[in-house]
Amino acid sequence: MSPADPTDDPREGPVLVVDFGAQYAQLIARRVREAHVYSEIVPHTATAAELAARRPAGIILSGGPKSVNETPAPSIDPAVYELGVPILGICYGAQLLTQQLGGVVDRTGRGEYGRTPLTVTGSSPLFSDWPESCEVWMSHGDAITGVPAGFVATATSPDAPVAALHDPDRGIFGVQFHPEVVHTEHGRDLLERFLYDICHCPPSWTHTSIIESQVAAVRAQVGTSPVLCALSGGVDSAVAAALVHKAIGEQLTCVYVDTGLMRANESEQVEETFRRQFHIDLVHVKAADRFFEALAGVTDPETKRKIIGELFIRIFEEVARDLVVEKGHLADDSEAPDDEPAGYLVQGTLYPDVIESGSGTAATIKSHHNVGGLPEDLAFDLVEPLRLLFKDEVRAVGEELGLPHEIVWRQPFPGPGLAVRIVGEVTAERAEILRAADAIVVEEVRRAGLYRDLWQSFAVLPAVRTVGVMGDGRTYAYPVVIRAVTSDDAMTADWARLPYDLLERLSSRIINEVEGVNRVALDITSKPPGTIEWE
Ligand code: XMP
Repeated sequence: MSPADPTDDPREGPVLVVDFGAQYAQLIARRVREAHVYSEIVPHTATAAELAARRPAGIILSGGPKSVNETPAPSIDPAVYELGVPILGICYGAQLLTQQLGGVVDRTGRGEYGRTPLTVTGSSPLFSDWPESCEVWMSHGDAITGVPAGFVATATSPDAPVAALHDPDRGIFGVQFHPEVVHTEHGRDLLERFLYDICHCPPSWTHTSIIESQVAAVRAQVGTSPVLCALSGGVDSAVAAALVHKAIGEQLTCVYVDTGLMRANESEQVEETFRRQFHIDLVHVKAADRFFEALAGVTDPETKRKIIGELFIRIFEEVARDLVVEKGHLADDSEAPDDEPAGYLVQGTLYPDVIESGSGTAATIKSHHNVGGLPEDLAFDLVEPLRLLFKDEVRAVGEELGLPHEIVWRQPFPGPGLAVRIVGEVTAERAEILRAADAIVVEEVRRAGLYRDLWQSFAVLPAVRTVGVMGDGRTYAYPVVIRAVTSDDAMTADWARLPYDLLERLSSRIINEVEGVNRVALDITSKPPGTIEWE
């Protein structure tokens, strides 16, 4: 079956993914978007009227960590089942709709976890691409044992008598397994059938359409006001800047503050990409001396962070004031209405930040963000062109906009830069040692084809020296520690099992090429109990 004809009267709104308090909702929302349908996550406390007001094309009730037989267990306004909007319940969502509509969910004592064989037993528009039996991913303790009136059971597994059910008249579906998980064979097909054939969503959420709609939104938001963007060298600020530049061209000024704590070649790459390739008005502030001066003698990690953050804001503020005077139509306050902002500030807020902020509407400036403390008298309004996007969408948009791979696929880098990887005093000399060692780590990890598989891989400079021997002479120099982790979200991380030959190359190159280093060690600590960064 092909995707529905877009003239099939699609509802205008998004597919809403109802969050019952687990990570499942985000994965489902991403899978829906991978099928080129726009989705948003909503809390389960939203009323049916609130959901209906969004004119949703479909509603997906996600999995959750609880049992529907617990009290309290998260629930949803039962009036959603009367909205006439197609509904798909997944795992907890399937059990919840079963229970709310009068079926039976039992504590059978026999759960299923992981890969499980599934047999399709009845006809369902969700299963039109499915063979009679295949493997699905299960994660349930309770089981649906009785379907509500009007429903038919359409699949079964060894310990889920009803592994799928639906009410053909109301367009309400439930599956006990997780179609969003890659281990479910044909999971993607099932979601596509729901989106295209049942919700009649056109597959129109593409990277081109994202760019077009954001360009239009930015233009409408900022009018002719000046817009400022702090570039960090990271992917989010780079994509946000490129997108805003596409929308408003010369109204955008980017500010890149070289703190002296950036990675090797980062400043050159920012110059090359933004000034020469994109012809963006770029203010490159070379402030390394100011940062090293402020950090002299400081060893406490939090104090370092604070000093760097505050100095960054002070420098950014200096540039911002100049910009307002130079470009702002409010340079002369008397000419402008009080409620009009002096200008706009681009912020690379992503959709997960918006969801986590709870409201789903106003994302406040992230506290750990470098420009989080701009003084209020600057009165900037925020432009957040990435606030609807997941990280993988941001990267795809970045590629579509022509940003270089090295920027688009760059591993995360902390705002305070190399400073949180230099234990003890941060000096220009020690930053240079670390930068050189770090560049070798990045180069060799890339050469080994592992850069994208690792969440982060970098070098750390401890505050001790160790004895070594080189040629005929005794050395007394710094060790460098290699830190490489795998992770999905930086909340937890595992130390990466790097191949021995890679470690050998790293060790010999760092010791031979970086003056001031005579030993290389490997950090084999997961998070928790360790953190990813050393400070
Ligand atoms: P930790 O070290 O806490 O790091 O395990 C988790 C993730 O956050 C990054 N990180 C920071 N990012 N400002 C930032 O913008 C910071 O002060 C900061 N500290 C840690 C870290 O690189 C990892 O990805």
